[in-house]
Amino acid sequence: MKVLVIGSGGREHALVWKLRQSPSVKQVLCLPGNGGISREAQCVAGDLKKMDRLAEHIASIAPDLTVVGPEAPLASGLSDTLASKGLLVAGPSQAAARLEGSKIFSKQFMRRHDIPTADFVVCEDRETALAAAQRWGGPVVLKADGLAAGKGVVVCSNASESEQAIDALLSGRLVGDAGRRLVIEEALTGEEVSFQVLTDGNTVLPLAPTQDHKAVWDDDRGPNTGGMGVYCDDAILSNALSQRIMKEIVHPTLDGLRKEGITYRGVLYCGLMITKDGPKVLEYNARFGDPETQPLMFRLRTDLAETLLGLARGNLSSRPLEWVPGASVCVVACSAGYPGSYESGKIISGIEQAEAAGAKIFHAGTTSNNHDFLTAGGRVLGITARGETLAAATRNAYHAVSCIHFDGMHYRHDIAQKGLRRSQPL
Ligand SMILES: Nc1ncnc2c1ncn2[C@@H]1O[C@H](COP(=O)(O)OP(=O)(O)OP(=O)(O)O)[C@@H](O)[C@H]1O
Ligand SMILES: [Mg+2]
Repeated sequence: MKVLVIGSGGREHALVWKLRQSPSVKQVLCLPGNGGISREAQCVAGDLKKMDRLAEHIASIAPDLTVVGPEAPLASGLSDTLASKGLLVAGPSQAAARLEGSKIFSKQFMRRHDIPTADFVVCEDRETALAAAQRWGGPVVLKADGLAAGKGVVVCSNASESEQAIDALLSGRLVGDAGRRLVIEEALTGEEVSFQVLTDGNTVLPLAPTQDHKAVWDDDRGPNTGGMGVYCDDAILSNALSQRIMKEIVHPTLDGLRKEGITYRGVLYCGLMITKDGPKVLEYNARFGDPETQPLMFRLRTDLAETLLGLARGNLSSRPLEWVPGASVCVVACSAGYPGSYESGKIISGIEQAEAAGAKIFHAGTTSNNHDFLTAGGRVLGITARGETLAAATRNAYHAVSCIHFDGMHYRHDIAQKGLRRSQPL
């Protein structure tokens, strides 16, 4: 089969890499892809923002399966348009993608269906927002309603912080129109886990649990980023807690959608806080996580193309996904200045040496010329390795990191430390 992956980051590189291993896959294309992806798939130019032209373009490629990486085309209805042209798509409809595309929709949806989440208030004006920020007598979290590429959420520990953030969001200064309506919610405490499932709307297959690292510096200091690294280890969650998450969160979410006339076909990403009262939803995403997908694909044994084709057809196999035992770790190497402004065009060295030792270097933001890979993004590489234990996977990942160099490269040194310190599953 011919498979098309939509997107240009590390997540898409990991999907391309894994899809190519399926015996039934003859050709993998990626639109638009990046420097690293171009060595493993045919990259096709295209603008993800121009929806009509994009759908026509995809139809002319006539893939047997399209896998959509990023959220924006899903929120704009790419899956629906492709389906109307008779194409098979792994990625939810526009209506289903509202779980990610509108924080107000997703919070009200959770309230309607009794899905555990932080208490919240929807605000469209300053008065309501200022009152809501005082409501729980502690830290609060402000969330822009619309998509904001990870920049629309502000955690505030006191009244003056929340007042400033309310003004920045409602005025449109922080994230434009996405922030003119807000969710203000009670801050939860606990450990965060990413729990993702594949579903065709009926059958549900959980992916292995992962834990992301959002802040730019070690020990979770500094501003939030798109994700500085992540590890994948079954031992993050006990079986009992995984089952509880399925029963209290995943199934009620899919049942709730079905009751509202929506079939969810794709990856449902539940960002969870494991609180002392149990798991609660911080957010849904309507697609594979990035960088979560990198260590997940590096551990997945099951044929991804066949699995996603079944999902897109609405007959996802119920056979559980198989994983290489042990753990995997992805350390993200970034350009100097990221998550602020950064320079591009720096020559990257050491990729071959890092891969010779068994790691896989997924490209998040690179271009390539005949000789070299050059940096072309804030997040540049996802340096990914496996090991029989989380400790071994972490050592292997950091050994690979030590092989890689580009001007100004920075990365976190403590990816997976939370997992290594934990003596028993959550
Ligand atoms: N109620 C809450 N209590 C405590 N922390 C929270 C809460 N809601 C969100 N956060 C923190 O803010 C981060 C971002 O929130 P959220 O996941 O809703 O935003 P997002 O912009 O959709 O993120 P992503 O880019 O991962 O999709 C969370 O990972 C978590 O660390
Ligand atoms: Mg999100």
